[in-house]
Amino acid sequence: MLKIAIAAILSYLIGSFNSAYFFTNYIKRADIRKYGSGNAGATNVMRVLGFKVAFLVFLSDALKGVLAVLLGRLIAGDLGGLMAGIAVVCGHNWPVFLGFKGGKGIATSFGAIISINPAIAILSLIIGIAIISISKYVSLGSILGAISFLLLNIIYYRSPNMLVFAIIITSLAVFQHRANIKRLLNGTESKLGQKTNIK
Ligand code: G3P
Repeated sequence: MLKIAIAAILSYLIGSFNSAYFFTNYIKRADIRKYGSGNAGATNVMRVLGFKVAFLVFLSDALKGVLAVLLGRLIAGDLGGLMAGIAVVCGHNWPVFLGFKGGKGIATSFGAIISINPAIAILSLIIGIAIISISKYVSLGSILGAISFLLLNIIYYRSPNMLVFAIIITSLAVFQHRANIKRLLNGTESKLGQKTNIK
C-alpha cells in the first residue's frame, strides 16, 4: 500500500510538469492558458505556435505517461503501474506547480495506456485520428478515442483492475472535455487548422 502511494505521488509530480506551458513560456514568454481554448495541451499549442512545437508537446506529454507507468510498475508491480497511469494524468490535468489548471490529459493518457496495453492503445489512437481527419475536430477525436479505449477494454476484457483503470482514464478524458462538448453541440468548437496569435 505504501509503495502504491509512493508510485502515485511521484507520478502525480511527473504529470504536473506541463510541457505546453513550459514550451510556450520558453519560446514566447506567454502563458498558453490565456490563449485559444485556454488549454495547456498540444492542440492549443498548435493554434498558437504551429505543428512542430505542438508535436514536441504531444511527445513530451506522452513520455510522462510512459515514464510514470514504468516507474509505478518498478515500485509497486502491475497495480502500481495502473495507479501511476491514473496519477500522472491527474498531475497533467491539475498540476500542483500551475495552480491546478493544466491540460486535458489525452497525450499523457496515451503514453500511459501504450505502456499498459499497446494493442488497444494503438487501436484507440487510430480511431481518434480517423475521427479527427473526417470531422476536423481534435476534441471529438479525443473524446471518441477515449471512449473506444473503454469499449475495447470491455470487448477484450483482461482483469477487473484493467477495466476499472479504463473506466477512470476515459471518465477523466470526457470530464476534461466538458467545455468542448458544449461547443461541439452549439457549433462553436474550433476546427483543426484555426490559428490564434500571441501579440
Ligand atoms: O487533447 C485536447 C483536445 O482534445 C482539445 O483541445 O485546445 O481544443 O480544448 P482544445
